Amino acid sequence: MNHSRLIIGNWKMNPASAEEAKKIATKVRTVAARLKHTEAVVCPPFVYIPLAAARITAAHYYLGAQSVSAIEGGSHTGLVSTSILKSLGVTYVICGHSEERARGVSDAEVAARALAVVTAGMNAVVCVGEAVHDAEGAYLDGLKKQITESCTGLSAAYASRISIAYEPIWAIGAAAAMSTDQIYETSLFVKKICADLFGQEAGMRIPVLYGGSANASNAAEIVSIGKVDGLLVGRESVNATGFVEMLKSVDALES
Ligand code: PGA
Repeated sequence: MNHSRLIIGNWKMNPASAEEAKKIATKVRTVAARLKHTEAVVCPPFVYIPLAAARITAAHYYLGAQSVSAIEGGSHTGLVSTSILKSLGVTYVICGHSEERARGVSDAEVAARALAVVTAGMNAVVCVGEAVHDAEGAYLDGLKKQITESCTGLSAAYASRISIAYEPIWAIGAAAAMSTDQIYETSLFVKKICADLFGQEAGMRIPVLYGGSANASNAAEIVSIGKVDGLLVGRESVNATGFVEMLKSVDALES
């Protein structure tokens, strides 16, 4: 491969204080500045975005958000629009993380958010993944449907601003990640669906990321043997030491 890998940290509802958030954002900056073929993205809780933005000043270091509303603006208490995020320097937005889907966010809503994100000129990270991984492969049909419906309305013209995060729900917050063989097989399947949806050229260029218990000890293996274009990281992304180790180990792989 000859393109950069993407390591996205999803801080979720962490850390518990702004002071800690500042420390993590600063620590990642020091390492991000030295990366050669890896891009680091951090997605803090909305309220920490400005303080993270002030520290995301290095090359290979980008600001992301964990969610967004598909609505443009107006009287919608508690929601945050693409314009608000963009004005604060956000360039990546996670759309449809499984924890949001568990709170009732549908494929159609995920598609609407992703469309709002790419039309605003930012990058949409569309999350998909099965709840149960059956040995017969029935989960693949569900995955195909989920990707197709979560990308409704996204044309090939936007493909360069889309990535798919494949996150098997059973491997999120778990004791171990999915096996690298399974990651390889499933990420190929996801690429094929992208090629069907966006056309061979554009579809095959869409980065496919893996998420689910990725950490400093397995990151390089997942990326090299699982052959994914990057990682979406939960727990290890708020452990600054572990996250920077992930960045370094993936960056040290052959590009
Ligand atoms: P985890 O979370 O790395 O803590 O398993 C991944 C995710 O939810 O994106």
